[in-house]
Amino acid sequence: MTDALLTETRDDTTAAWWRQAAVYQIYPRSFADANGDGLGDIPGIVSRADYLQELGIDAVWLSPFYPSALADGGYDVADYRDVDPRLGTLDDFDDMVAALHERGIRVVVDIVPNHSSDLHEWFQEALAAGRGSAARERYIFREGSGPDGSEPPTDWTAAFGGSAWERVEDGQWYLHSFAPEQPDFNWDHPEVREDFLTTLRFWSDRGVDGFRIDVAHMLTKDLSEPLPSSAELEGMPHDGTHPLHDRDDVHEIYAEWRRVFDEYDPPRTAVAEAWVSTPERRARYASAEGLGQAFNFDLLVADFDAAQFRTIIADNLAQADATGSSTTWVLSNHDVTRHATRYGLAPLNGREGVKQGVEWVAAGGPADQLDRETGLRRAHAATLLLLGLPGSTYLYQGEELGLQEVAEIAPEQRQDPSFFRGAVFDGLGRDGCRVPLPWTASGPSFGFGGIEAHLPQPAWFAEHAVEVEEADPQSTLSLYREALRLRRLLQTDESLEWIETGRADVLRFARPNGWQIVTNFGSEPFDLGADAAEVVLGAVVDGAVPADSTVWIAPAGLVG
Ligand code: NOJ
Repeated sequence: MTDALLTETRDDTTAAWWRQAAVYQIYPRSFADANGDGLGDIPGIVSRADYLQELGIDAVWLSPFYPSALADGGYDVADYRDVDPRLGTLDDFDDMVAALHERGIRVVVDIVPNHSSDLHEWFQEALAAGRGSAARERYIFREGSGPDGSEPPTDWTAAFGGSAWERVEDGQWYLHSFAPEQPDFNWDHPEVREDFLTTLRFWSDRGVDGFRIDVAHMLTKDLSEPLPSSAELEGMPHDGTHPLHDRDDVHEIYAEWRRVFDEYDPPRTAVAEAWVSTPERRARYASAEGLGQAFNFDLLVADFDAAQFRTIIADNLAQADATGSSTTWVLSNHDVTRHATRYGLAPLNGREGVKQGVEWVAAGGPADQLDRETGLRRAHAATLLLLGLPGSTYLYQGEELGLQEVAEIAPEQRQDPSFFRGAVFDGLGRDGCRVPLPWTASGPSFGFGGIEAHLPQPAWFAEHAVEVEEADPQSTLSLYREALRLRRLLQTDESLEWIETGRADVLRFARPNGWQIVTNFGSEPFDLGADAAEVVLGAVVDGAVPADSTVWIAPAGLVG
């Protein structure tokens, strides 16, 4: 195929750039460490801007890089309009945006509006001002229950385990849906609303192209007395009236944010992290009058299974059609066990992918339960399938190196609050996907920077180092680069047509411009006939797609 044929066919300059973007998630503290203190930083990202360009992504999404005591990996923000001094300065941030923009890469940043850090100046002010003060109104303070108020106001539990209420010195309690260091804001307060508009403008003015909105479904709450018990909450419908989750009134906030996004040219984009009960509820976050796009996490819980993938793909494309948004494919992120590992474990009983990984990590990562080779092969197959689909794809740093989850982290080296607080769902799952990237096969911290990375890197990281994979045309990195390059040709229209294969374990579809994707989820090869000659990505063996593999077939005549 000639390079001329690979010139971009998409119009990336329009306001709709996000619709089919390949977005690469950077977990800044674990990407690249320029000052050698063991913590990744913004100059580290700048130093790897060429790497990002060569990878061929359209945008990066940065997990929080704001000042933080790291009670929850940066999702405890102490100042929404600054950079953690350990990660750099605002000038460094501007340099990073310029370096990425010069290379045609857009920048999405994380906004964490449900809660701040307990070190945020407003929370500190609230603590100092005492009960009944105006400063406490910006958060959710209540008197305790029991005769002397020494019991929490309700029996609600936090997502990371333990009570959702923490007592302060003067005896009042405050609500924290996550860690105690993450007090929930009171979104009925006009100053809270106004302040986030200021934050959105602050980063938009600095050239940020879009925002990822953390737990977008939890901001508004109905806390009228008497507060319900956990059991009562459980029984309440998730139809927009639930006191704590996915309330209809949260969309008033996003309508206001949309007006801010539309002040810019092109309008700033947003994607909601919204864990809601139905596709219809999720659609509200993706509406053009709101955030515009919402994460579809369906594949995180799916097995490597043709029927599950087909249903999920069909449902999400239908939903995107209905909302006018585009869908978002995600196999890995900073909260879940890496998919190369999930796919190498024996499946639980259907649609429990994330849980399966958590259980393995919790058991200390027994080597005899993980088939790394199969996991990686399937990870390649699933990623190539996703990159061929309409919609945007979110990739998580390290997956382009074929990294597996790191289970070898001693309890005293762990950082995840869910580990210390014993949350059931997240368990120990999250540090193992946040281990700093290996850039070189040897040397301190595998070229991440500094002597020692802030989370321990296992010896097997050496074989996945960027320098090793760059030199190997068969590596995961080479595969990602080629896929992302070809994707620019393939992504012309947001639709697909299924082609029946006669096999329940093989999926095949065509894009309107003639590209075809075939994924063999089964163990028997799938014969391609004459089409084998048109395969431009993925391996064909004896004219067939091998087990656990995906191939891309170019339109007739493109290969030559
Ligand atoms: C979702 C984020 O992805 C996760 O990392 C974080 O712990 C929670 N929200 C709380 O902010």
